[in-house]
Amino acid sequence: MSDDSRPSPTGVRTAVVIPAAGRGVRLGPGAPKALRALNGTPILIHAVRAMAASRAVSLVIVVAPPDGAAEVKSLLDAHALPERTDILVVPGGDTRQESVKRGLDALPPEYGIVLVHDAARPLVPVDTVDTVIDAVRQGAPAVVPALPLADTVKEVEPAAGPEPVLSTPDRSRLRAVQTPQGFDRATLIRAHETVTDDVTDDASMVEQLGLQVVAVPGHEEAFKVTRPLDLVLAEAVLARRRLTDGF
Ligand code: CTP
Ligand code: MG
Repeated sequence: MSDDSRPSPTGVRTAVVIPAAGRGVRLGPGAPKALRALNGTPILIHAVRAMAASRAVSLVIVVAPPDGAAEVKSLLDAHALPERTDILVVPGGDTRQESVKRGLDALPPEYGIVLVHDAARPLVPVDTVDTVIDAVRQGAPAVVPALPLADTVKEVEPAAGPEPVLSTPDRSRLRAVQTPQGFDRATLIRAHETVTDDVTDDASMVEQLGLQVVAVPGHEEAFKVTRPLDLVLAEAVLARRRLTDGF
């Protein structure tokens, strides 16, 4: 991996928008998900550290819960983060899409590559981050980290009782998509200005523009903390890291 502490040879700087404004309803009652602790450190801080671990990333824009920007700022001040990374905090919106848009509105003009990373994926390894950035640098307008599925997937007719199965897509052609997703800045901004349908990720907005999105290998540790069992898994991953890396 090249030394990316300065802008790359093409002069393209990389920023990350971290949507962290969700409530975390599926995790159960408590503080907003990004502010809950994993081994004593807020999920959001783990996520910011995971992005700042990439030497290519020089700015992180955290999209805080709408009424929680001040709390998020003081959390960020209270935790050690690499000095080479600038941090901005903006308040989020009612949907993930709106939160990402608010982050993009705060993006200074000198950033040509933008990653969007769920705060709820606190443990993504830096190699995955760098793989996404490299693919955008090489010219892809939109890049997603993705993994093959373990389970067979069925399409059903949703119903209150037993649900009729309609089809079984060929699993070898399916991928589970993670973040960080990486974009050419102008492409992502245009997607957010153009697409108004409800979407659950940013790349699908770029697909709707008719542009080619590409998938690169994701990582099992980039899973999203969604339900209570995911907290158990995340703490187990951290415990394994402490054993193998010594921290
Ligand atoms: N997110 C956001 N603004 C929203 C909703 C979600 O910034 N209005 C962020 C979350 O904070 C999270 C990411 O989008 O980092 C992925 O969303 P998800 O895992 O669905 O988180 P929540 O919406 O918080 O969880 P839930 O759907 O269970 O309430
Ligand atoms: Mg949600």
